[in-house]
Amino acid sequence: MDIAGKKAIVLGGTSGIGLATSLMLVEKGADVVAVSRDPSKAGDVPAGIRLAALDSRDSEAVEAFFNAEGDIDILVNSATGGSRAFGPFMEMDMKGFQGSFDKLWGYANVLRYGASHVRDHGSIVLVSGSPARKPKPGQIALSAVGGAVEALARAIAAEIAPKRVNVVSPGIIDTPMVALSGEDRAKHYQNVTKTHLVDRAGHPAEVAQAIIFAIENDFITGTTIDVDGGWLVAQ
Ligand SMILES: NC(=O)c1ccc[n+]([C@@H]2O[C@H](COP(=O)([O-])OP(=O)(O)OC[C@H]3O[C@@H](n4cnc5c(N)ncnc54)[C@H](OP(=O)(O)O)[C@@H]3O)[C@@H](O)[C@H]2O)c1
Repeated sequence: MDIAGKKAIVLGGTSGIGLATSLMLVEKGADVVAVSRDPSKAGDVPAGIRLAALDSRDSEAVEAFFNAEGDIDILVNSATGGSRAFGPFMEMDMKGFQGSFDKLWGYANVLRYGASHVRDHGSIVLVSGSPARKPKPGQIALSAVGGAVEALARAIAAEIAPKRVNVVSPGIIDTPMVALSGEDRAKHYQNVTKTHLVDRAGHPAEVAQAIIFAIENDFITGTTIDVDGGWLVAQ
């Protein structure tokens, strides 16, 4: 796909990986709608990006949003959705565990009501995460949600072809998702990446590059691309 002149919607497009993707899409000539609950967090954005407010968990609002937007070529969802539960499953607060699935419900709403507006040969990209296939201790909720996101994309690919759908799975990426600052932030990322083959946090743009690849390459659908600094193959 030649991205120039195409219309793109990026859920979670106002921060981190989604914002980096919105910026790359605009650089390549797309008209981008960057969407989140509070899009003002994106700050100043280039002229090709329009900001819009939407909670991906609200299925009626998601349906109305896509009906109002009309036809689109590119649909990316990197929204975190809600809260994330950590810790051993046998000690898990089940409301917290269920809350982690807000990400999945958001992705499901966006596919259910957005995919029909994607033109034939258009491209959809979702974002999972390395715990989907290699959870570290305490990441059972992240693993279950990420695995479901990857399975959802694989399962729906045949139903919506010739539209394409793929998943990009990031490892540890330095984004506002982690609220720490200064030395605490640097120590955190050192600690959580020390066993990875590339022992640093990734940059949002490094994940956005893979999302752009999945959009531009017309021969890939129903699969997952890992951008993880070697998390999956590390000891
Ligand atoms: N960063 C990492 O290390 C990492 C690792 C593995 C996987 N991931 C995945 O990568 C994706 C992007 O994460 P990120 O690090 O870029 O996070 P981020 O910087 O916190 O950005 C998340 C974006 O999602 C939006 N969002 C959250 N809930 C939403 C909702 N219910 N409806 C609409 N928008 C919503 C946020 O804006 P509002 O708050 O304004 O809604 C924000 O724009 C997520 O799916 C995350 O699980 C990240």
